[in-house]
Amino acid sequence: MKIVIIGGAGTIGKTLTNHFKQEHEVIVAGRSTGAINVDIAESSSIQNFFDQIDKVDAIICAAGEAKWANFKDLTEEDYYIGFKSKLMGQVNLVRIGQNYLNPKGSITLTTGILADDPVIKTASAAMVNGAIHSFVKAVVLEIENGIRVNVVSAGMVEDAYEKYEAHFPGHNPVPMKKVVNGYIRSVMGKDTGRIIKIYE
Ligand SMILES: NC(=O)c1ccc[n+]([C@@H]2O[C@H](COP(=O)([O-])OP(=O)(O)OC[C@H]3O[C@@H](n4cnc5c(N)ncnc54)[C@H](OP(=O)(O)O)[C@@H]3O)[C@@H](O)[C@H]2O)c1
Repeated sequence: MKIVIIGGAGTIGKTLTNHFKQEHEVIVAGRSTGAINVDIAESSSIQNFFDQIDKVDAIICAAGEAKWANFKDLTEEDYYIGFKSKLMGQVNLVRIGQNYLNPKGSITLTTGILADDPVIKTASAAMVNGAIHSFVKAVVLEIENGIRVNVVSAGMVEDAYEKYEAHFPGHNPVPMKKVVNGYIRSVMGKDTGRIIKIYE
């Protein structure tokens, strides 16, 4: 398979890259990392990215940002960061990326536990995660050419424990092997429209 991993040099992404590159051709992309640069927050950048590669069998997105801050401090502009990057970035990846997938290809998006179990400072981040879950369930009713779309929603991953443990008191870090399995299930299996939750 030929697999694009956007965010493939990040904490989750590099583990995915290391797994999938063992048996597949992997193209890693990011704003400043990877073989080809793309900023998912700009649809013109997504279009430009896909114009540079031949058709692929799978697109994985392990990228996307949202502003974390106390609700009282979040401005309208702050919400638009997550809206433009994590939410519309991934929606646009499906909207544009579907045209660059071989028939029966797959798209795997990434959200997180905040959609179901938010912590403080995540009014924006939790909101976009939940919106992506609803988008995935709806888009598979209409997307053509046998293309499958799923989202992996993980808890705080073990490789990000030091960065996030203060934000997730008492949460168990999720083993990277389990997180990778969520993506394997989406890419190699037959699921579509699934929110693959890996919270423990
Ligand atoms: N870490 C966790 O515990 C955890 C748990 C559940 C869900 N998540 C979610 O999973 C995703 C990845 O998390 P992570 O911890 O692996 O993050 P990370 O270590 O910060 O890595 C993010 C990767 O995405 C790329 N990226 C960021 N914004 C981008 C953009 N606008 N366009 C293209 N590439 C972009 C970055 O590369 P460049 O800087 O080169 O662009 C980087 O390679 C995030 O959406 C995060 O919210 C994380």
